[in-house]
Amino acid sequence: MKTKSKSLFEFYLLLVVLLSFWSKGHAQNTLISGMEELKWEKIMPGIWKASVGKIGLNPMDYANAPKTEAIKELGDAPFPFDPNASRSLLVPNRASVRLPLNKTEQIYGLGLEFEGMNRRSNVYSLKVDHYGGINGYTHAPVPFYISNEGYGVLINSPKRVKIHVGVGNRKDSDLPELIDRTTGKNWQDRPLSDAVEASVEGDGMEIFVFAGQTTLEVVQRYNLFFGGGIIPPKWGLGFWHRMHTESSDKDVLKEIQDFESNKFPLDVIGLEPGWQSFAYPCSFDWDTTRFPDPKNFVQTLDKKGIKVNLWENPYVAPVSTMYKDISPFTGSHTVWLGEVPDYSIPEAQKVLLKHHQKNHLDIGVSGYKIDEVDGYDVWLWPDHATFPSGNDAVEIRQLYGMMMMDMFDRHFKEQNQRTYNLIRSAYIGASNHNFVLYSDYYDHKGYVTAMASASLSGLLWTPEIRSADSAEEWIRRFQSVSFSPLMMLNAWYSGKKPWSFPEVTDMVRNTIELRMKFLPYLYTAFYEYNQKGIPPFRAMVLESGYDSKETLDGSKLDDAKNPYAEQKRLEVTDQYMMGPSILVAPVFTGQKERTVALPKGNWFDFYTGEFAGNGETITIKTKLEEIPLFVKDGGIIPMLSTLENKSDQTLEVRHYGTKENTYFLYNDDGVSYDYEREEYSLTELKTTKNPEGKLEGNTNALKKSNFNYGNMVWRWMTVKH
Ligand code: GAL
Repeated sequence: MKTKSKSLFEFYLLLVVLLSFWSKGHAQNTLISGMEELKWEKIMPGIWKASVGKIGLNPMDYANAPKTEAIKELGDAPFPFDPNASRSLLVPNRASVRLPLNKTEQIYGLGLEFEGMNRRSNVYSLKVDHYGGINGYTHAPVPFYISNEGYGVLINSPKRVKIHVGVGNRKDSDLPELIDRTTGKNWQDRPLSDAVEASVEGDGMEIFVFAGQTTLEVVQRYNLFFGGGIIPPKWGLGFWHRMHTESSDKDVLKEIQDFESNKFPLDVIGLEPGWQSFAYPCSFDWDTTRFPDPKNFVQTLDKKGIKVNLWENPYVAPVSTMYKDISPFTGSHTVWLGEVPDYSIPEAQKVLLKHHQKNHLDIGVSGYKIDEVDGYDVWLWPDHATFPSGNDAVEIRQLYGMMMMDMFDRHFKEQNQRTYNLIRSAYIGASNHNFVLYSDYYDHKGYVTAMASASLSGLLWTPEIRSADSAEEWIRRFQSVSFSPLMMLNAWYSGKKPWSFPEVTDMVRNTIELRMKFLPYLYTAFYEYNQKGIPPFRAMVLESGYDSKETLDGSKLDDAKNPYAEQKRLEVTDQYMMGPSILVAPVFTGQKERTVALPKGNWFDFYTGEFAGNGETITIKTKLEEIPLFVKDGGIIPMLSTLENKSDQTLEVRHYGTKENTYFLYNDDGVSYDYEREEYSLTELKTTKNPEGKLEGNTNALKKSNFNYGNMVWRWMTVKH
């Protein structure tokens, strides 16, 4: 009897367990009711792909091929989330996916962002446009997000991806507690959702998953999947000055003299719209009153070691000498009454490249600033415009910047010439294009946030300086732009010079010179970008040992005034990493002190070598003449000893802290793609402790070429010798 009741009990227990499994399964089936399971195919170590229907123009056609070996070196990884929980739905003219998200997971990325880093609990309409606030309208709205759980997801689509990141709750999903608004304190206008849901208007999308043990490894895989990052020509890392739009050749020559007499370095002169006979729309032809002899002009600058970069937008004026040839390949609508070439057609590319080769590149122009490839709707073509390729106008708008970058990059590469350019829009897989993003937005803090956020989406960004309301703002902005991928004064309307605020001229010069001395370190950081996909300028969330210490600020909420006000996320967006071991913490006008969040490990002041902190938020007093820089324990920083004599390549190799470390210093000819054919040098810089425990520095040429640096002089910044 006893045994019988026991076995009955066991039977019931089994039934309960089975039932609970069934109901779980059932719940999941309900959850996915009407949605298909995504079929993941592994395409490379740690990279998977799934497809829903068909995509139109493939954005990947305008990005470069994967660096397969480097991806292999990152190693394999298991699929990073429950594959059964990824679903898709295809209905007429809309494709959507649903991917799981756990309660504490944080999401980063989704392109260039000026006002924050964490993307959870929001909806974005990822549209190539001018920046429109935190809503997905931006110059580079890349549909790639990174989870702090160690994976990234790319939605490959030429359409505008609408993405709900942890908001919008399906009735059959894992719902949070239901709270009564009247009596419940924790009621939320955005109840936590257990998914990222994304959709496009169209017939499908592709989804790629990138695994990584860290957020940085996810970004590396993503960048390597598109060929890794670029290595700019060395001149691109120097000082850029864009002239006033009405400047003539004589004005430029005078400006160059002024740079010399004020003792400012100058590597690139940018000409704004006025170099053309007509703009906007553009003629792409020289204005012969302002530039009567372009060839002689460009070559005169070239002899002084100064490159010329030309501004243009893509819209063709009827007076252009390429108008007749390109007109058969333009769309139904105009932009500023100029025709819009359909650069998805190879013949259209040929017309532009032929014209530019003859009129610009053959005489020595080094590259372009490609403007107005982003928005606004009131300027660009409507969604219903038609193009001769038959491609959709929305898709062409989303990919226009990428098409132009790809076309110019291939053209320069065919001539074995490296280039460095500017552009105002980008999209999927841009890391291997030789272009840096910029904007008209001009909020200094936003510009620093953009530098960090760019690194999460395979982008480079310049916080260019144009003008300032005070000498203080001038030097503060100069400091930020000097510690960015492209150091540029864009004086197109202000006509400003670096010495326009005499009170801070020496500080501006020192800042620029400091940046120039970092060249060996920065150039090597770009090599790491190229080889390993590590962004040279990076958001703190990519740094190991970094705790964002994000909190939600609820204190200012006033239910009576604004019942649906949101809690604001307090996050660190005003500091970033440069190269392997430097943390940059720019200062903004009016800041007498600022906080700096130091990741775990010992950090040292760059200028003094003194200990600054470890895994903590410190408050520092600011100095007008200095941008705060901190160096990781063991940091090895090779710097040019002098800028006076370009042929003197003696390096000062700084070491910070007390740790032993190894650094691989890269160098090449600085101008061609010969480095892809093994023409480069690699030197090991190693610090070790001798038997007395004293640090010693050793250099070891691992790979010699004609491009070795000169003497290396070690400088111990923390440990006294
Ligand atoms: C803007 C661009 C500026 C400047 C200007 C010239 O669209 O962002 O940097 O080039 O055009 O008209």
